[in-house]
Amino acid sequence: MADLQRQGLVRHIGLSNVTPTQFAEARDIAEIVCVQNQYNLAHRDDDAFIDALAAEGVAYVPFFPLGGFSPLPSAALSDVAARLDATPMQVALAWLLRRSPNILLIPGTSSVAHLHENLAAASLTLPEDAVAELDAIGR
Ligand SMILES: NC(=O)c1ccc[n+]([C@@H]2O[C@H](COP(=O)([O-])OP(=O)(O)OC[C@H]3O[C@@H](n4cnc5c(N)ncnc54)[C@H](OP(=O)(O)O)[C@@H]3O)[C@@H](O)[C@H]2O)c1
Repeated sequence: MADLQRQGLVRHIGLSNVTPTQFAEARDIAEIVCVQNQYNLAHRDDDAFIDALAAEGVAYVPFFPLGGFSPLPSAALSDVAARLDATPMQVALAWLLRRSPNILLIPGTSSVAHLHENLAAASLTLPEDAVAELDAIGR
């Protein structure tokens, strides 16, 4: 990929399913502009990695932002959503957008209605007490 970039055939390089060590190794080879790993409200192994990438100006694109094959199961998520007159998936996306400025979202959907719903999540503001409840889900 670095060779292709040098030839002008590839503009930017991102990595998927990588550890911080692998990211550092790759950076010795080429500039890395984004990382795509599994991350969502309930799966937060990358918390420290996300913060480190944000400090370096590297984008983080969580895959399975809505839980992927196993939808996020949480009474707390449903409670917060009901209070905010939103859907649980919208709250899960709003939490990710609020989590860090380097997070970019690609929620997968085969439904136009869900697409509209997911886009609207960008305008959903989460109050601090809701954020605290949501943070507790992944602990
Ligand atoms: N780099 C990697 O290794 C890797 C691995 C996995 C995935 N990915 C990428 O990550 C992205 C997201 O992955 P994903 O689509 O598998 O997981 P996801 O976005 O977490 O979940 C998608 C699931 O959520 C449902 N959904 C979406 N919006 C919804 C809504 N508003 N309400 C209720 N359900 C909703 C979808 O069903 P409907 O179709 O019914 O909306 C689908 O079943 C994709 O672009 C995928 O290619 C990358």
